[in-house]
Amino acid sequence: MITIPDRFRNLIKDLALGAGEILLKHYKTDIKMELKGEINPVTIADRESEDFIIGEIRRKFPVHSILAEETGGDIGKSEWLWVIDPLDGTTNYAHHYPSFCVSIALFYNDKQALGVIFHPLLKEFFYAERGGGAYLNDRQIRVSTVDSLGRAFLTTGFSYDVHKVVDDNIDNFRAFTKRSLAIRRGGSAALDLAYTACGRFDGFWEMRLHPWDTAAGILLLEEAGGRVSTFDGGEFDIYKSEIVASNGLIHEEMVKVLVKN
Ligand code: IPD
Ligand code: CA
Ligand code: CA
Repeated sequence: MITIPDRFRNLIKDLALGAGEILLKHYKTDIKMELKGEINPVTIADRESEDFIIGEIRRKFPVHSILAEETGGDIGKSEWLWVIDPLDGTTNYAHHYPSFCVSIALFYNDKQALGVIFHPLLKEFFYAERGGGAYLNDRQIRVSTVDSLGRAFLTTGFSYDVHKVVDDNIDNFRAFTKRSLAIRRGGSAALDLAYTACGRFDGFWEMRLHPWDTAAGILLLEEAGGRVSTFDGGEFDIYKSEIVASNGLIHEEMVKVLVKN
């Protein structure tokens, strides 16, 4: 069991709230979207949010390691590692489609200790602590109790190389569409995981995600009683790119579909 200092808890919450304000400030403007890759967007809000988060961590804990989407961060030798997605759902955000968040996780010796996902428009604050449960605005959350794929409400996403790769997740999308209650493509992997943790979705899968997409969400999901694995049911960690996350009850059925495809 890790002892997490209170100042780390307070900081992760302040970082998410502060970053959320930055996202809301720019959301009210005519957001300009640049492309980092063919269809991979970035906005001033991604950069400002990340600068704020890293600046605050550096001010308080100069030697902590940081892994962040826009600047890469700085992996040092500290046993504490902050994994940051300053804006998850940038394509949504840049189109004023109201589904995006900030996602921050704190690891201790390669294990998640704390995780926060904050949707600033809805003021939904998801928080989890290893061994301490998962919460949405101070109410404890649990995964759903749906126990068959045929009744399951699922979510997924597509990576920014979808135009080019053969392994594009479209076959899986088709297979699950034929077998589940319904599927959504929400556009924020972190929210997909948070929503699975609180029972809105029953399961989520995606390919070629990055550590910052999943770092906070999988702690939330596990603390809410869910299960996470690779497509073949193996152990997942944030450096692996295939993820299946579910309420646990439909996990084997999801793995079966993904293995077959
Ligand atoms: C993306 C979102 C999206 C997922 C992509 C991610 P970004 O992150 O989480 O839902 O399908 O694979 O890269 O670029 O908005 O932070
Ligand atoms: Ca992301
Ligand atoms: Ca992002």
